Amino acid sequence: MHPMLLLLLWGSLTLMETWAGSHSLMYFSTAMSRHGPGEPRFITGGYVDNTQFGRFDNDSPGQSVELRAPWAGQVRQKELDEETRNQRNQAQWFKALLQDLRGLYNQSNNNGSHTLQRMCGCEVGPDGSLLRGCEQFAYDGADYIALNWDLRSWTPADTVAQITRRQWEALGRAERVRNCVQDRCLTWLHRLLELGKEVLQRT
Ligand SMILES: *[C@@H]1O[C@H](CO)[C@@H](O)[C@H](O)[C@H]1NC(C)=O
Ligand SMILES: *[C@@H]1O[C@H](CO)[C@@H](O)[C@H](O)[C@H]1NC(C)=O
Repeated sequence: MHPMLLLLLWGSLTLMETWAGSHSLMYFSTAMSRHGPGEPRFITGGYVDNTQFGRFDNDSPGQSVELRAPWAGQVRQKELDEETRNQRNQAQWFKALLQDLRGLYNQSNNNGSHTLQRMCGCEVGPDGSLLRGCEQFAYDGADYIALNWDLRSWTPADTVAQITRRQWEALGRAERVRNCVQDRCLTWLHRLLELGKEVLQRT
């Protein structure tokens, strides 16, 4: 899925504008519950600036991360396997959160499909240092909860999201996301910018 397509499903989303000379790594994930006992569909697209480099779809044979940009073909198998493991874990985490939200919104008695989306990533300046990171969720197309720019606190969009905020505060989730932004996301962005420099750093 193209990010713009996914974004159309969002509410009043504050998009990360890319500043001149800066670069961003963004992941757009969508989980959709289905009728019956099946696993939710889970799709993630990974983008450097506006270029898609990878995709994960739990409906694909093999359930592995697939590379989408020729330059990303130089990513090592070991790194790809790690991303695949990570995406499979994410799929399970989204599944559990979808179930929770269905309960919290009193939707347990209807069989409708529900959608949970996340946009997350990091942005670096021209010198490669971290400018900011983000993580935002939407449920059924409306803003749900977002990590604030301080990467320490959450903004819930409604009373159900306040419950999630309390749970995540108790779990110290902001700290984990912050570590992820400052470590994994940053490392990946530098790596991908190096691999794709012919294409990505041309302005
Ligand atoms: C769900 O139902 C409970 C009990 O009736 C109610 O207190 C709660 O506000 C409802 N939640 C939503 C999101 O409507
Ligand atoms: C949900 O699906 C089950 C099994 O398919 C069906 O028996 C039930 O009536 C459905 N409930 C609603 C509210 O549509």
